[in-house]
Amino acid sequence: MGKDVIVACDFATKDMVFDFLNLFKEEKPFVKIGMELFYAEGPEIVREIKKRGHKIFLDLKLHDIPNTVKKSMSVLRNLDVDMTNLHASGTIPMMEAALEGLTREDGTRPILIAVTQLTSTSEEVMKSDLLINEPIDKVVMHYAENAKKAGLDGVVCSPLEAEKVHNVCGNNFITVTPGVRFADGDKGDQVRVMTPEQAKKIGSDYIVVGRPITAANDPVAAYRRCVAEFVD
Ligand code: C5P
Repeated sequence: MGKDVIVACDFATKDMVFDFLNLFKEEKPFVKIGMELFYAEGPEIVREIKKRGHKIFLDLKLHDIPNTVKKSMSVLRNLDVDMTNLHASGTIPMMEAALEGLTREDGTRPILIAVTQLTSTSEEVMKSDLLINEPIDKVVMHYAENAKKAGLDGVVCSPLEAEKVHNVCGNNFITVTPGVRFADGDKGDQVRVMTPEQAKKIGSDYIVVGRPITAANDPVAAYRRCVAEFVD
């Protein structure tokens, strides 16, 4: 399995994202395109970044009835992205429908991963707002197991959960972990963080890194530092 650093390109416009990507002369980072950029610029932004030779994680977190998700995934598969995602809380039938929609006629498909509980949801809020009374850790592992049962490739999770997800779902089940910070860096609004080196040690398969690279004085050097700590 290819360990890689995915750069979260959380920019509002196409010009901003290209100004950023133009800094990279030698590497072609794996990039994450989220809702903000996708809704602002539409599917063309995906095609353009792909044309420049980058791998793409399209982070749209689908969650709807199975038929709608299946049809939407069959549109996304034609964008030729390398990875995309959905909410595990959409249930196993929704995840199975998503896989069906995502699979191309020749049997190939992008990697499909599930969001378990968002890291912005605390156990307290999960109880009060969602009426889920189990410990959050148990809920996250249960959702990961559901994703595996549905045939998905892995989950997005906190780096602190990655090791346990591998214990529960096996080492081939992919963990994609945001919340990564350099040891000497600013944590920003992330609370539970790990360095790229620690994320490597606990077995994350992909780390998603945004501001420590995009807001760095030298983004290329910051990207190289991530790769050196996590991949090499
Ligand atoms: O800038 P930063 O490194 O915090 O960016 C992390 C990226 O990962 C952002 O795009 C954020 O939306 C995403 N993410 C996250 N926590 C999750 C899921 C996604 O930080 N649980």
